[in-house]
Amino acid sequence: MPAGLQLGVNVDHVATIRQARGTRFPDPVLAASLAELAGADQITVHLREDRRHIQDRDLELLRQTVQVPLNLEMAATAEMVRIAVRERPDTVTLVPESREERTTEGGLDVVGHAAALRPVIAALRDAGIVVSLFIDPDAAQVAMSAELGAHTVELHTGDYCEARAALLREQRLEYLRAAAQQAHELSLRVAAGHGLDYKNVQDIARLPFMAELNIGHAIVARAVLVGLERAVREMIDAMRLA
Ligand code: PXP
Repeated sequence: MPAGLQLGVNVDHVATIRQARGTRFPDPVLAASLAELAGADQITVHLREDRRHIQDRDLELLRQTVQVPLNLEMAATAEMVRIAVRERPDTVTLVPESREERTTEGGLDVVGHAAALRPVIAALRDAGIVVSLFIDPDAAQVAMSAELGAHTVELHTGDYCEARAALLREQRLEYLRAAAQQAHELSLRVAAGHGLDYKNVQDIARLPFMAELNIGHAIVARAVLVGLERAVREMIDAMRLA
Protein backbone atom coordinates (compact mmCIF):
# COMPACT_ATOMS: atom_id res chain seq x y z
CA MET A 1 0.00 0.00 0.00
CA PRO A 2 1.44 3.38 -0.92
CA ALA A 3 2.44 5.25 2.24
CA GLY A 4 -0.45 7.24 3.57
CA LEU A 5 -3.23 5.62 1.53
CA GLN A 6 -6.34 5.87 3.69
CA LEU A 7 -9.43 3.69 3.88
CA GLY A 8 -12.85 5.28 4.27
CA VAL A 9 -15.44 2.69 5.28
CA ASN A 10 -18.95 3.39 4.01
CA VAL A 11 -21.51 2.02 6.50
CA ASP A 12 -24.67 2.81 4.47
CA HIS A 13 -25.50 -0.86 3.96
CA VAL A 14 -25.72 -1.47 7.68
CA ALA A 15 -28.56 1.05 7.69
CA THR A 16 -30.01 -0.60 4.56
CA ILE A 17 -30.51 -3.82 6.56
CA ARG A 18 -32.11 -1.90 9.43
CA GLN A 19 -34.46 0.02 7.14
CA ALA A 20 -35.49 -3.20 5.36
CA ARG A 21 -37.27 -4.29 8.54
CA GLY A 22 -37.99 -0.95 10.18
CA THR A 23 -36.12 -2.03 13.30
CA ARG A 24 -33.54 -0.15 15.38
CA PHE A 25 -30.78 -2.58 14.45
CA PRO A 26 -28.21 -3.10 13.07
CA ASP A 27 -26.94 0.34 13.98
CA PRO A 28 -24.59 2.12 11.54
CA VAL A 29 -23.26 4.18 14.45
CA LEU A 30 -22.05 1.04 16.23
CA ALA A 31 -20.70 -0.24 12.91
CA ALA A 32 -18.71 2.97 12.47
CA SER A 33 -17.10 2.50 15.91
CA LEU A 34 -16.17 -1.10 15.08
CA ALA A 35 -14.74 -0.03 11.71
CA GLU A 36 -12.66 2.59 13.48
CA LEU A 37 -11.38 0.03 15.99
CA ALA A 38 -10.36 -2.18 13.07
CA GLY A 39 -8.32 0.63 11.52
CA ALA A 40 -10.63 2.65 9.25
CA ASP A 41 -9.15 6.08 8.60
CA GLN A 42 -12.50 7.65 7.78
CA ILE A 43 -16.21 6.89 8.06
CA THR A 44 -18.35 7.65 5.02
CA VAL A 45 -22.14 7.87 4.83
CA HIS A 46 -24.52 8.97 2.10
CA LEU A 47 -27.58 10.85 3.30
CA ARG A 48 -29.90 10.37 0.36
CA GLU A 49 -32.83 12.58 -0.45
CA ASP A 50 -35.20 9.60 -0.03
CA ARG A 51 -33.50 8.52 3.25
CA ARG A 52 -33.44 4.93 2.05
CA HIS A 53 -30.64 3.98 4.43
CA ILE A 54 -28.84 6.61 6.54
CA GLN A 55 -31.24 8.80 8.53
CA ASP A 56 -30.69 12.34 9.81
CA ARG A 57 -30.39 10.99 13.36
CA ASP A 58 -27.58 8.63 12.27
CA LEU A 59 -25.64 11.57 10.93
CA GLU A 60 -26.14 13.54 14.15
CA LEU A 61 -24.96 10.60 16.26
CA LEU A 62 -22.03 9.86 13.96
CA ARG A 63 -20.92 13.47 14.22
CA GLN A 64 -20.84 13.07 17.99
CA THR A 65 -19.16 9.68 18.12
CA VAL A 66 -16.84 9.19 15.16
CA GLN A 67 -13.24 9.99 16.08
CA VAL A 68 -11.70 9.76 12.61
CA PRO A 69 -12.80 12.16 9.85
CA LEU A 70 -16.47 11.88 8.85
CA ASN A 71 -17.22 12.11 5.13
CA LEU A 72 -20.79 12.95 4.14
CA GLU A 73 -21.80 12.05 0.59
CA MET A 74 -24.74 14.12 -0.58
CA ALA A 75 -26.45 15.73 -3.55
CA ALA A 76 -25.82 19.43 -4.11
CA THR A 77 -29.28 20.52 -2.97
CA ALA A 78 -30.27 23.39 -0.67
CA GLU A 79 -31.63 20.93 1.92
CA MET A 80 -28.38 18.95 2.04
CA VAL A 81 -26.23 22.06 2.24
CA ARG A 82 -28.30 23.21 5.25
CA ILE A 83 -27.77 19.85 6.94
CA ALA A 84 -24.05 19.80 6.18
CA VAL A 85 -23.50 23.31 7.50
CA ARG A 86 -25.40 22.36 10.67
CA GLU A 87 -23.70 18.99 11.27
CA ARG A 88 -20.20 19.95 10.08
CA PRO A 89 -18.84 16.69 8.72
CA ASP A 90 -15.10 16.95 8.08
CA THR A 91 -15.64 16.38 4.38
CA VAL A 92 -18.60 16.61 2.02
CA THR A 93 -18.44 14.57 -1.16
CA LEU A 94 -20.88 15.89 -3.73
CA VAL A 95 -22.45 13.08 -5.74
CA PRO A 96 -25.17 12.91 -8.39
CA GLU A 97 -28.39 11.38 -7.18
CA SER A 98 -31.51 10.11 -8.81
CA ARG A 99 -34.30 8.36 -7.00
CA GLU A 100 -34.48 5.43 -9.40
CA GLU A 101 -30.86 4.32 -9.15
CA ARG A 102 -29.83 1.38 -7.00
CA THR A 103 -26.62 3.15 -6.06
CA THR A 104 -24.70 6.15 -7.34
CA GLU A 105 -24.39 5.33 -11.01
CA GLY A 106 -21.99 7.83 -12.52
CA GLY A 107 -19.78 10.71 -11.60
CA LEU A 108 -21.13 14.18 -10.98
CA ASP A 109 -21.11 16.24 -14.18
CA VAL A 110 -19.29 19.23 -12.76
CA VAL A 111 -18.81 20.72 -16.22
CA GLY A 112 -22.54 20.68 -17.00
CA HIS A 113 -23.54 21.87 -13.52
CA ALA A 114 -20.70 24.32 -12.85
CA ALA A 115 -22.94 27.34 -12.28
CA ALA A 116 -25.11 25.51 -9.75
CA LEU A 117 -22.14 23.92 -7.98
CA ARG A 118 -20.10 27.07 -7.50
CA PRO A 119 -22.22 28.56 -4.66
CA VAL A 120 -22.68 25.13 -3.03
CA ILE A 121 -18.92 24.57 -2.91
CA ALA A 122 -18.37 28.10 -1.62
CA ALA A 123 -20.95 27.64 1.17
CA LEU A 124 -19.37 24.38 2.28
CA ARG A 125 -15.86 25.82 2.17
CA ASP A 126 -17.03 28.85 4.16
CA ALA A 127 -18.32 26.45 6.82
CA GLY A 128 -14.82 24.97 7.09
CA ILE A 129 -15.78 21.72 5.36
CA VAL A 130 -13.38 19.97 2.99
CA VAL A 131 -15.10 19.59 -0.39
CA SER A 132 -14.65 16.51 -2.55
CA LEU A 133 -16.29 16.01 -5.95
CA PHE A 134 -17.15 12.49 -7.12
CA ILE A 135 -16.33 12.58 -10.83
CA ASP A 136 -15.61 10.30 -13.73
CA PRO A 137 -11.92 10.06 -14.65
CA ASP A 138 -12.22 12.62 -17.42
CA ALA A 139 -9.85 15.54 -18.12
CA ALA A 140 -12.59 18.19 -18.45
CA GLN A 141 -14.23 17.09 -15.17
CA VAL A 142 -10.91 17.17 -13.31
CA ALA A 143 -10.03 20.62 -14.68
CA MET A 144 -13.44 22.04 -13.75
CA SER A 145 -13.19 20.54 -10.24
CA ALA A 146 -10.02 22.54 -9.66
CA GLU A 147 -11.56 25.67 -11.12
CA LEU A 148 -14.60 25.35 -8.85
CA GLY A 149 -12.38 25.28 -5.76
CA ALA A 150 -12.72 21.65 -4.67
CA HIS A 151 -10.04 20.30 -2.33
CA THR A 152 -10.35 16.68 -3.47
CA VAL A 153 -11.65 14.66 -6.40
CA GLU A 154 -12.97 11.17 -5.78
CA LEU A 155 -12.52 9.29 -9.05
CA HIS A 156 -15.39 6.97 -9.94
CA THR A 157 -13.95 3.47 -10.27
CA GLY A 158 -17.24 1.81 -11.26
CA ASP A 159 -16.48 1.53 -15.00
CA TYR A 160 -13.08 0.03 -14.25
CA CYS A 161 -14.55 -2.46 -11.78
CA GLU A 162 -17.20 -3.58 -14.25
CA ALA A 163 -14.80 -4.13 -17.15
CA ARG A 164 -14.24 -7.84 -17.70
CA ALA A 165 -12.04 -7.96 -20.81
CA ALA A 166 -8.37 -7.39 -19.97
CA LEU A 167 -7.87 -4.74 -22.66
CA LEU A 168 -10.88 -2.70 -21.58
CA ARG A 169 -9.84 -2.99 -17.96
CA GLU A 170 -6.35 -1.72 -18.75
CA GLN A 171 -7.80 1.16 -20.78
CA ARG A 172 -10.09 2.19 -17.91
CA LEU A 173 -7.25 1.90 -15.43
CA GLU A 174 -5.29 4.21 -17.72
CA TYR A 175 -8.11 6.80 -17.58
CA LEU A 176 -7.93 6.65 -13.79
CA ARG A 177 -4.14 6.96 -13.83
CA ALA A 178 -4.26 9.98 -16.15
CA ALA A 179 -7.00 11.65 -14.09
CA ALA A 180 -5.04 11.08 -10.86
CA GLN A 181 -1.93 12.59 -12.44
CA GLN A 182 -3.85 15.61 -13.75
CA ALA A 183 -5.61 16.15 -10.41
CA HIS A 184 -2.29 16.07 -8.59
CA GLU A 185 -0.82 18.62 -11.00
CA LEU A 186 -3.80 20.88 -10.27
CA SER A 187 -3.11 20.52 -6.51
CA LEU A 188 -6.21 18.41 -5.92
CA ARG A 189 -6.10 15.57 -3.40
CA VAL A 190 -6.98 12.26 -5.09
CA ALA A 191 -9.49 9.73 -3.77
CA ALA A 192 -11.34 6.90 -5.50
CA GLY A 193 -14.29 4.64 -4.92
CA HIS A 194 -17.28 2.66 -6.10
CA GLY A 195 -17.33 -1.04 -6.81
CA LEU A 196 -13.99 -1.75 -5.14
CA ASP A 197 -13.55 -5.19 -3.66
CA TYR A 198 -10.81 -7.28 -2.06
CA LYS A 199 -9.21 -8.08 -5.44
CA ASN A 200 -9.63 -5.07 -7.69
CA VAL A 201 -8.60 -2.72 -4.90
CA GLN A 202 -4.95 -3.50 -5.51
CA ASP A 203 -4.69 -1.91 -8.97
CA ILE A 204 -6.43 1.19 -7.69
CA ALA A 205 -4.30 1.39 -4.53
CA ARG A 206 -1.21 1.36 -6.76
CA LEU A 207 -2.26 4.38 -8.82
CA PRO A 208 -0.01 7.40 -8.41
CA PHE A 209 -1.07 10.09 -5.93
CA MET A 210 -3.93 7.98 -4.57
CA ALA A 211 -4.63 9.23 -1.04
CA GLU A 212 -7.96 7.65 -0.06
CA LEU A 213 -10.33 4.86 -1.04
CA ASN A 214 -13.99 4.79 0.02
CA ILE A 215 -15.41 1.29 0.15
CA GLY A 216 -18.82 0.11 1.31
CA HIS A 217 -20.56 -2.82 -0.34
CA ALA A 218 -17.65 -5.27 -0.40
CA ILE A 219 -16.77 -4.65 3.24
CA VAL A 220 -20.32 -4.82 4.62
CA ALA A 221 -21.08 -7.90 2.48
CA ARG A 222 -18.05 -9.70 3.90
CA ALA A 223 -18.87 -8.46 7.40
CA VAL A 224 -22.19 -10.34 7.27
CA LEU A 225 -20.18 -13.55 7.10
CA VAL A 226 -16.97 -12.87 9.02
CA GLY A 227 -17.71 -9.83 11.19
CA LEU A 228 -17.03 -6.18 10.53
CA GLU A 229 -13.68 -5.85 12.26
CA ARG A 230 -12.23 -8.75 10.31
CA ALA A 231 -13.74 -7.46 7.06
CA VAL A 232 -12.14 -4.04 7.57
CA ARG A 233 -8.77 -5.53 8.55
CA GLU A 234 -8.79 -7.80 5.50
CA MET A 235 -9.44 -4.80 3.25
CA ILE A 236 -6.55 -2.92 4.82
CA ASP A 237 -4.40 -6.03 4.23
CA ALA A 238 -5.53 -6.17 0.59
CA MET A 239 -4.58 -2.51 0.14
CA ARG A 240 -1.19 -3.18 1.75
CA LEU A 241 -0.48 -5.98 -0.72
CA ALA A 242 -0.56 -3.42 -3.54
N1 PXP B 1 -17.76 6.59 -3.08
C1 PXP B 1 -18.92 7.20 -3.45
C2 PXP B 1 -18.89 8.64 -3.83
C3 PXP B 1 -20.14 6.49 -3.44
O1 PXP B 1 -21.28 7.11 -3.80
C4 PXP B 1 -20.14 5.14 -3.03
C5 PXP B 1 -21.43 4.39 -2.97
O2 PXP B 1 -22.22 4.93 -1.97
C6 PXP B 1 -18.92 4.57 -2.63
C7 PXP B 1 -17.75 5.31 -2.70
C8 PXP B 1 -18.83 3.16 -2.16
O3 PXP B 1 -19.16 2.29 -3.19
P1 PXP B 1 -19.27 0.73 -2.89
O4 PXP B 1 -20.43 0.56 -1.94
O5 PXP B 1 -19.51 0.13 -4.24
O6 PXP B 1 -17.97 0.32 -2.26
